[in-house]
Amino acid sequence: MKQDHFKDKADNWDDGAIRKSTPIAIFEAIQKRFSLTKEMEIMDFGVGTGLLGFLVAKEVKKVYGVDMSPSMLAKLKEKNTPECFIEAIEQDIVKEPLSLSFSGIVSSMTLHHVEDLEAFFTSIYKNLHKDGFLAIADLEKEDGSFHSDNSGVYHFGFKEEDLREVVKKCGFRDIAIENITTINKPQKDFGVFLLSAKK
Ligand SMILES: C[S@@+](CC[C@H](N)C(=O)[O-])C[C@H]1O[C@@H](n2cnc3c(N)ncnc32)[C@H](O)[C@@H]1O
Repeated sequence: MKQDHFKDKADNWDDGAIRKSTPIAIFEAIQKRFSLTKEMEIMDFGVGTGLLGFLVAKEVKKVYGVDMSPSMLAKLKEKNTPECFIEAIEQDIVKEPLSLSFSGIVSSMTLHHVEDLEAFFTSIYKNLHKDGFLAIADLEKEDGSFHSDNSGVYHFGFKEEDLREVVKKCGFRDIAIENITTINKPQKDFGVFLLSAKK
């Protein structure tokens, strides 16, 4: 049976100030770099309950929310309305790549759960239209204290030069990585970056 690391977290995922402010900061950073239009079909990788995805969905034709956690997708589906809708796809796209193609791929706080980064970036490169964009937000290098339980966490954040190298190797161009916000936790502050790139 497949393991759902987010089973116990899904119900309360949307609670708390950080869960509201971080996706907004990520969304604003994406909008500064890329123009979202009503012609676009976008993938949100690791969409979770749709905290970032629903902000994007208001600006584009359609968002496909990919996630391998049935419990997170169940919460997302409760939030769907006819006016603001995300098409949920329950799949581990590192193991089973999608055959759809998109104008852009966004992602919030999911990359640290991906063990094989090269396999992931190689796979999603194929899911982008020519000139399609990538906008992935995640943690800057940290000491492992961000999560109280590190099961399913394969990277304690990322160093800019390591990430840049793998993304370039997988064919992306115009790669930029910059700090966009900070998550303040009682133990310390954690920087969040946005990686932007084009196919
Ligand atoms: C930390 S949560 C972030 C959720 C949401 N993006 C947010 O910012 O609130 C990470 C999500 O990525 C999903 N995930 C992790 N690895 C995945 C994979 N290989 N394929 C699909 N979903 C994945 C998890 O199931 C989880 O819902």
